Amino acid sequence: MIEVKDLHKYFGALHVLKGIDLTVQKGEVLSVIGASGSGKSTLLYCINALETIEQGEVIVDGVSVHAKSTDINKLRQNLGMVFQQWNSFPHLTATENVALAPKIVSGKSRQEAREIAVKQLEHVGLGDKLDVYPSALSGGQQQRLAIARALAMEPDYMLFDEATSALDPELVGEVLDTMRLLAEEGMTMICVTHEMGFARDVSDRVAYFHQGMMEEIGPPAQIFGEAQSEQTRKFLANVR
Ligand SMILES: Nc1ncnc2c1ncn2[C@@H]1O[C@H](COP(=O)(O)OP(=O)(O)OP(=O)(O)O)[C@@H](O)[C@H]1O
Ligand SMILES: [Mg+2]
Repeated sequence: MIEVKDLHKYFGALHVLKGIDLTVQKGEVLSVIGASGSGKSTLLYCINALETIEQGEVIVDGVSVHAKSTDINKLRQNLGMVFQQWNSFPHLTATENVALAPKIVSGKSRQEAREIAVKQLEHVGLGDKLDVYPSALSGGQQQRLAIARALAMEPDYMLFDEATSALDPELVGEVLDTMRLLAEEGMTMICVTHEMGFARDVSDRVAYFHQGMMEEIGPPAQIFGEAQSEQTRKFLANVR
């Protein structure tokens, strides 16, 4: 499980995360919503140690992420991350892109890495694009390729940072479907998203971030139906 305890993050004088307490259980899907600049991406980056933290602690499966003794590379293999836009290597085919990390990071043989790649590309619905170069893939297919690349390390956790925000509207659905499939398979996921339908239908809980604080967290029925916080209600009234 992922435990975030009294997490504070500053960029210089800017206090970006102001004491976040959050536990994500194995198999849980958490959606994180909130206005631009509220600290959603920063939270994800603090969880997989792409950012330092100034106070508090992040613990993944009992390991303190920001402790000096922690093997960050090993930790990141267990935390797959998908960004808004992912540039896969243009000179490598889909299969070669996915096989890269298993080969280089996990030391798998060429053959093993290829088998993992084919399996994960089929998993995300790209079984017919194995030998295609990224430039020949649609935006939605490129995002699914990014998901396959993350899955190739067999992570226990997946972190999505607005994985569909850069896509044309007609391509959003196929990526959300892939994320939904992972959720149904039991993947533990934290999804920063603007897709309220996804947050409502797929998540176990939804966290609303406001100005660096977790203003409210609860099941979708609470957040979307009977939010406790005035601020949450105000935000949702504007995005829907
Ligand atoms: N590397 C950085 N250096 C300085 N300030 C930063 C840095 N990264 C983020 N910030 C600031 O921290 C605050 C939170 O940013 P963050 O990217 O976490 O917001 P967000 O909720 O993900 O927003 P969005 O919905 O626009 O992606 C913002 O005020 C942002 O300008
Ligand atoms: Mg962001």
